[in-house]
Amino acid sequence: MKEEEIATLYNQARNWVIEAGTLVRDNLHIPLTIDTKSNANDLVTQVDQEVEYFFVSKIKKHYPHHFLLSEEGYGDREVDEKGIIWVVDPIDGTKNFVHQKKCFAISVGIYMDGVGEIGFIYDVMNYQMYSAKRNGGAFKNNKSLPALSSHKSLETAMLCMNHHWLMKNRLVDESYIAQLVRRVRGTRAYGSAALAFTALAEGSIDAYMTMRLEPWDMAAGRILINEVGGKLTNIVGEDIAPFEKSSVLLCHPAIHQEVLNHYLIPSRQKKI
Ligand code: IPD
Ligand code: CA
Ligand code: CA
Repeated sequence: MKEEEIATLYNQARNWVIEAGTLVRDNLHIPLTIDTKSNANDLVTQVDQEVEYFFVSKIKKHYPHHFLLSEEGYGDREVDEKGIIWVVDPIDGTKNFVHQKKCFAISVGIYMDGVGEIGFIYDVMNYQMYSAKRNGGAFKNNKSLPALSSHKSLETAMLCMNHHWLMKNRLVDESYIAQLVRRVRGTRAYGSAALAFTALAEGSIDAYMTMRLEPWDMAAGRILINEVGGKLTNIVGEDIAPFEKSSVLLCHPAIHQEVLNHYLIPSRQKKI
C-alpha cells in the first residue's frame, strides 16, 4: 500500500472512531440490555453490538475487500492474513462501561499482511485519542508521545495487574507475584486492556501483566507501544503472533527481562 493510501485510511478510520465514540456517549444513560457470554461476569450490551455493527457497515461499504476481526460476532468468520484486516474491540472495558460509565475505550488496529500499520485507542469519556502509524510515531490527541526512557528500576515501577495473580491460579505460583508486588512502587488495575497499553505508552505505568487477552484487546495497543519502544511478550517471554490469544507481559524495556527471569519464569517452574 502506498503512503497516500495509508494516510487516507488513517484519516477515515480516525473519523469513524470519533463517530463511534459519540455514539457511545449518546447511549450512555439509556437502559442497557446486558447479556453474558462465556461466564456470568463476561458482559455484552446492545451498545457494544451497535458500535461493532457501525464499524462493520462502514468498512464493508467503503472497503469491501478488507476483513474484519471483532469481538461481538459481526465480523468475518474467516480472515486472510495476506490482506487488510481491521481488528476491532467496540468497547474494551465493558464492565467499566456498565458499572462506572468511564474508563473504557474503542480499539481499532489495522493490519496489512499480518503487520500492524495503524492503531487507535479512544478513551471515550476523556475525549482522548491515542493513535499510531508504524514507523510514524505514537500520539495522544495530536501530541507526539516520546520514546520510553532508557532507565527504569522495579523499585520505581508502577505495575498494572488484577487480583487474580495473587490468588491460586493455573499459570503461576502466586507467592512469587506477591514478592513482585512488594518490590514495585505501586499497583493499578484499569479494567481495560487497551487503556493499560496507552498508560504504558505514556509512561504512567511501567508494566502490565494479564493472563489472557484476545487479539482485539491488544491489536491497536501493540502498534502504539511499538512506536515508543515498549516490550511485549507472553509470560514466558515469547513473541505474540498478531491474531492470537495469549497471556501478556508488557513492560518498559528496562524491566521486562527482570520481571520475566526473577518472578514469572521461576513462579511457573515452582508450579510444575
Ligand atoms: C476485557 C478488558 C479487561 C481484560 C479482559 C478483557 P472487554 O475486554 O480488556 O481489562 O482483563 O481480559 O476481556 O470484554 O471489556 O472488551
Ligand atoms: Ca476487550
Ligand atoms: Ca469488548
